Amino acid sequence: MLADKHILLIVGGGVAAFKALDLLRRLREQGAHVTPVLTKAGAEFVTPLSLSALSASKVYQDLFDLTDEAEMGHIELSRAADLIVVAPATADLMAKMTHGLANDLASTLLLATDKRVLIAPSMNVRMWNHPATQRNLTTLKDDGVLVVGPDDGAMACGEFGPGRLAETPAIIAAIDAALSDGPLNGKHILVTSGPTHEPIDPVRYIANRSSGAQGTAIAKALVALGADVTFVTGPADVAPPVGVNVIAVQTAKQMLDAVNAAAPADAAVFAAAVADWHVANAGDSKIKKDKSGLPTLEFVENPDILATVSQLKSGRPALVVGFAAETDDVIANATAKRLRKGCDWILANDVSPETGIMGGSENDVTLITADGAEDWPRMSKDATAVALAARIAKAIT
Ligand code: CTP
Repeated sequence: MLADKHILLIVGGGVAAFKALDLLRRLREQGAHVTPVLTKAGAEFVTPLSLSALSASKVYQDLFDLTDEAEMGHIELSRAADLIVVAPATADLMAKMTHGLANDLASTLLLATDKRVLIAPSMNVRMWNHPATQRNLTTLKDDGVLVVGPDDGAMACGEFGPGRLAETPAIIAAIDAALSDGPLNGKHILVTSGPTHEPIDPVRYIANRSSGAQGTAIAKALVALGADVTFVTGPADVAPPVGVNVIAVQTAKQMLDAVNAAAPADAAVFAAAVADWHVANAGDSKIKKDKSGLPTLEFVENPDILATVSQLKSGRPALVVGFAAETDDVIANATAKRLRKGCDWILANDVSPETGIMGGSENDVTLITADGAEDWPRMSKDATAVALAARIAKAIT
């Protein structure tokens, strides 16, 4: 996908600038031609020499470098690329882009270009959360600028939260997507997400710790690749992404009905943490404490939505992806689960409390397919979703 693509990589001035070197290296490995542009602030963090060594290209730094103007003007430079990538995109660069400032080479290129622009923001969490940056972000997105990250996590400044540069695989997947012009255009993909709530009586229910973050991120990443997404969600903590068809449900039974109603689909991703059982003797009215003793709940197994869809005789999506939430023997259990349920891929993750995955912002998955197990690095749920969406796009297009 990246072979022979021309990428203009603008490296802004932030602690994460050093990660641009890894990004550059990976892009070259995949056959892309990268022309680096280093801002004045960026040069405080990485040297032009490392960028030029890794890119095997001249590094552009100065708007008023007449030699460059003779060789290639800034208009030409900004248009010769297939895509402009800004990594890291600092708060300052984002503000310049929003307001159309052109007082240095990077901002001038960004204003002069007629190509798509992808930014990977990275900054202190307070700068990211500041209303000014958030306003700028909204404007940039409205202008059609593509955005990857930032991730949540511990930052070099000692604070914690959103602001870390997206991981290299996520940036590469976003670049892939930006260059492929909506590979999932016209594809209908079903995503289940969140927990289910199984009533005990009208005021009580059985639930689990799923926040819906991973399913939401997957739906968002699929939309970004042009998919038409039906998002069947239980009562999640995270709001559904924009641009999807949301079907809100409470119970496993309702989730199955919604999934059936959404068919047919080209692919389906079952990220919901569906309750395995519901209460057979759920009360129609509130169960009261009384002298007759403690209530006894009788459980009945819920329908297995993933297995049902995987084993459809007709109308089965071409690709069915499940998750395996495990606490022990993760790979062995997940491999067996893939075969038992009949899905094509399983993303296995260890949901033991010490991993912080369930309800957390990161995931650490192993993709299990008929070809074996592929370990992915621990990364944000957003990055995991972007990587998965790119894989789905490759598989079904
Ligand atoms: N799943 C489903 N319907 C269910 C239970 C699970 O669609 N009733 C899906 C989940 O969305 C997930 C996969 O099946 O994609 C595996 O879920 P998991 O909780 O790991 O497995 P279980 O089937 O519940 O098996 P076990 O509890 O024995 O590990």
